[in-house]
Amino acid sequence: MANTVPLLLALETSCDDTGAAVLRGLTVLSNRVAGQLQHAEFGGVVPELASRAHQTSLWPVVQAALDDAGVRLHDLDAVVCTQGPGLLGSLLVGHSFAKSVALALAIPLYHAHHMRAHVLAHFLNPSSENSGPAFPFLCATVSGGHTQLLRVNGPLDLVVLGETLDDAVGEAYDKAAKILGLGYPGGPEIDRLASQAGNERIAFGKPSVGELNYSFSGLKTSFLNTLTKLFGAPHNVPKERMPEVCASIQDALLDHLLDKLVRAVAQTGLHDVAVAGGVSANSGLRHRLTELGTANGWNIYLPPLAFTTDNAAMVGADGYFQLLSGIQPVLHAHAQARIPLQTELLG
Ligand code: KG4
Ligand code: ZN
Repeated sequence: MANTVPLLLALETSCDDTGAAVLRGLTVLSNRVAGQLQHAEFGGVVPELASRAHQTSLWPVVQAALDDAGVRLHDLDAVVCTQGPGLLGSLLVGHSFAKSVALALAIPLYHAHHMRAHVLAHFLNPSSENSGPAFPFLCATVSGGHTQLLRVNGPLDLVVLGETLDDAVGEAYDKAAKILGLGYPGGPEIDRLASQAGNERIAFGKPSVGELNYSFSGLKTSFLNTLTKLFGAPHNVPKERMPEVCASIQDALLDHLLDKLVRAVAQTGLHDVAVAGGVSANSGLRHRLTELGTANGWNIYLPPLAFTTDNAAMVGADGYFQLLSGIQPVLHAHAQARIPLQTELLG
């Protein structure tokens, strides 16, 4: 008998990672990501270079994902790609490719919201022990481009409770790493060095922003000014003090992030708390959240590491939930650099 759970090809090209995954419903059969090292020398993503790299990498990455899954293009039941938000040139490459596949195979095309996909990564690979957080739950989406606090009422019903008014937390990690002369992306490097620190810490300013919103750009200025005062310039931090400096930066960023999360729990009464996005790979954040959960009786949901930074499997989850809910796939939608979460995605 034919398998009734649809076989999906998912594509992620919103920034500088070229991702392709094959899923049977929410079960990930393969998940390939090609990073783009060429941005490192510029200390940040160069949009033009990112678009070109997607063009050269996408087909090999798709082929590898199909091979890993033991699937041929003709076996696919649907395609799903990231519609936005992201870099428009990068999105257009994945979106045009996905449209071509859908047209050539006469199968439906679904359009995923990148940040919603990060959240829905929690539902990948369901098992008897783990079927994801129960609705409604709170989710802090923490990435290089976004930082939001969401109330997740259902897979396609996400309400923004607060968000950053300037930089995203991942961006703050990357900018801090840049002034210290560390590589790009800087988040993982600060995380690694911070884990080697003792108990000494440097104090930085505290952001003051109302409600459940965040502000990270003032912290960046505080890092710059304080490290300049202490060491002459941030890139003069001696090697032996680097773990202490990174741990202090990480503490300042996570204090702000978690302070708002604690408030959101108090305001909503929700005790199921998740994180999603690239910064949810951070070992300090994972550790502190787990501790907070234990101390306060919250249920904490941490995505598996492979589904924290940009990947196509999460995009597949977004497409599958749309398919389940009966959303009509269309071929005439276009890629969008900005898509607010609450708006209808298609059209
Ligand atoms: O979700 P993501 O892969 O891409 C966007 O949607 O932006 O997030 C990338 C961000 C980068 O800023 C990167 O520095 C940060 O996630 N990141 C980390 C860690 N791993 C990735 N930040 C802190 N600690 C980490 N371990
Ligand atoms: Zn992302």
